[in-house]
Amino acid sequence: MSGELIRLGLAGLGTVGTGLAKILASNADWIQRRLGRQVVIKSALVRDPTKVRDLPSRMNIALATSMDDLLQDPELDIIVELMGGLDAPYRLISAALARGKAVVTANKALLAERGNELFSLAAKHGAALYYEASVAGGIPIVQVLKESLAGNRIKALTGILNGTANYILTEMTDRGLDFQTALGQAQAKGYAEADPTLDIQGMDAAHKLVLLIRLAYGEDYPLSELPVQGISHVDPQDIIFADQFGFRVKLIAQVRHSQGGLDAGVFTALVRQEHILGKVDGPFNAVLVEGDAVGPLMLYGQGAGDLPTGSAVLADIMALARAGCSPNNTGFPEIVLPPAAILSPDHVRSRHYFRFTVLDRPGVLAVIAGVFGQRNISIAQMVQKGSSSGRNVPVVFITHSAQARDVTAAVREIDTQSFITAPSVHYRIL
Ligand code: NAP
Ligand code: HSE
Repeated sequence: MSGELIRLGLAGLGTVGTGLAKILASNADWIQRRLGRQVVIKSALVRDPTKVRDLPSRMNIALATSMDDLLQDPELDIIVELMGGLDAPYRLISAALARGKAVVTANKALLAERGNELFSLAAKHGAALYYEASVAGGIPIVQVLKESLAGNRIKALTGILNGTANYILTEMTDRGLDFQTALGQAQAKGYAEADPTLDIQGMDAAHKLVLLIRLAYGEDYPLSELPVQGISHVDPQDIIFADQFGFRVKLIAQVRHSQGGLDAGVFTALVRQEHILGKVDGPFNAVLVEGDAVGPLMLYGQGAGDLPTGSAVLADIMALARAGCSPNNTGFPEIVLPPAAILSPDHVRSRHYFRFTVLDRPGVLAVIAGVFGQRNISIAQMVQKGSSSGRNVPVVFITHSAQARDVTAAVREIDTQSFITAPSVHYRIL
């Protein structure tokens, strides 16, 4: 990478690609001052070259419709993959790495699914594969784990990693919006994935968590083994009950070092309103890291959108433009990371929120309390909303810390009782 210009071959000129183009235009002088060179997008691969695009005026980008146009251009210094999806980006990135070309991507789905192959290929060819924008949009957590906290043993990492889910939950909580309306708004604002089920079913956060586990622990946690829960089932009445108990409902991605293994998962949780993560709202993301030396450290910022994500993509481009020595892709020297020691989800302990829909009749609470007692689940608070003899009423419990295996067994047993009239709901409390 030498000469006056850093020339980019950009694959994808959608939300993030356009955001990158805008920053390159608006901050061109500043970027040149920092690097001593200009960064330009020479060509961009798109699906539909006739589409009207909101690009900076005076930006002269040649549109391409074949990835060979990018791969066979010897003038390109970096291939920037911002297409999304799996197959086409895999073909492009693997072909670029095989040619020894530096690659920057925001594609967490691809790296979570096929990262092992791509990082091995990059190592084999001494090529860079950078991915700051793939986790938490504008928040520079990849660089922080790879470089700034490299000497720490990470005890735990807890994040709000999906802007769309956090935006939906915030709108449902603060404005009483229904789920579909809030999702539509998140899509219109450019936060959601092309397939928004990835956001609302927790898979996008899972993709990001798997990448963070690699960076924090140097272990490969297979995506298929990660417990993942989304937010599409969240009932507005649980948001209201949570609020009455002083909590907010959040989609949490967490990994903790516990009992000699990694306890990891993506789950809907109740978070205390005063907790630092309870205050992270809208499309904002946050990552709370606990290192053995640094202690608790939190990064907070916009987890999605054109300019925040473009900012992270540009950080990788500038890091590569400066890099004089071999690239640091994974933060570890191994070509293939060892498999993670996974703690069985059954052994995870936490406090819980339960909502049972029951017939309002004598003896109901005694049965529920009896099942909890037999399973070592200790009740901290309880409320019955309304009273309507012989009719359905919700009863809500907050418990002390209990083991997941006991919680599952208790709910299964309670759900068989004749007084239960709708499936029970239970969430972890952070
Ligand atoms: P997007 O708005 O849907 O844009 C995708 C772009 O790629 C479009 O320009 C599209 O062309 C082009 N494209 C897609 N498939 C193609 C193919 N097979 N061949 C050629 N061109 C193709 O997507 P995005 O929101 O910018 O997201 C891009 C990537 O960044 C994804 O991996 C996403 O997960 C990641 N990401 C997004 C955000 C965010 O806030 N949006 C944040 C972090 C990471 P046309 O324009 O012609 O349709
Ligand atoms: N769809 C993602 C989100 C984009 O909502 O967080 C950022 O990765």
